[in-house]
Amino acid sequence: MSEAQVSKVVVTVDGPYLVTGGVPLAIQTITPNNEGLSWEWTEGRSFPSQPAYKLCRCGGSKNKPFCDGTHAKTGFDGTETASRRPIARQSETLDGPTLTLSDAEQLCAFARFCDVGGKIWSLIEATDEPQVRALVIREAMHCPAGRLVLHEKPGNKEIEDPLPPSIGLVEDPALGCSGPLWVRGAIPIESADGKRYERRNRVTLCRCGASTNKPFCNGSHASIEFNDGLTAFTR
Ligand code: SF4
Ligand code: FES
Repeated sequence: MSEAQVSKVVVTVDGPYLVTGGVPLAIQTITPNNEGLSWEWTEGRSFPSQPAYKLCRCGGSKNKPFCDGTHAKTGFDGTETASRRPIARQSETLDGPTLTLSDAEQLCAFARFCDVGGKIWSLIEATDEPQVRALVIREAMHCPAGRLVLHEKPGNKEIEDPLPPSIGLVEDPALGCSGPLWVRGAIPIESADGKRYERRNRVTLCRCGASTNKPFCNGSHASIEFNDGLTAFTR
């Protein structure tokens, strides 16, 4: 298999993400419930399949989501500052009666699926109630960033719904901004120094250029009101 056929995302030095292996690319919109809280993911327009493509990482491309070389003109500093430690060692854990919640706060992409029903950090304490337990599992599985991870009690088996290998372009109409790249299905992510980050089912990569935890999203897109121009926000 040639390099271009291997599915992976490579972070380039102060430049774009190089995606190989024909990874599907589509808009993924955060969709609220009746109370205005994040509830569903809605898949939108998909982009024609390409064996390899470069996704903007600085936020400045005029051809988003793709790179147009703007990073070189603006002197984008894409230095990777995220921890390389396994996610389990970056997380705090909260113990509930039937589930354990691991929380790596620095990875939060601010998608807010964890807010319904009074926030997952409180709900975890009532997971002996089947409805609460189901809601907690739903919320964690919808967390795009993989900040929130659940384990069964007893046994410590990880709960994870396998996601199709693909990249989502996150759109957040409730906040009127675009969000990160939602990298799904354990696609390997390679640092600019050639080392790999832990392979995970759900991670979010910064594409606005403003995260202080690069290459991962830390929610900064919301404060800078990042807009990729792919969605007509009415807010
Ligand atoms: S990214 Fe995860 S932890 Fe952060 S707000 Fe969204 S659901 Fe909650
Ligand atoms: S896309 Fe979320 S911090 Fe840049």
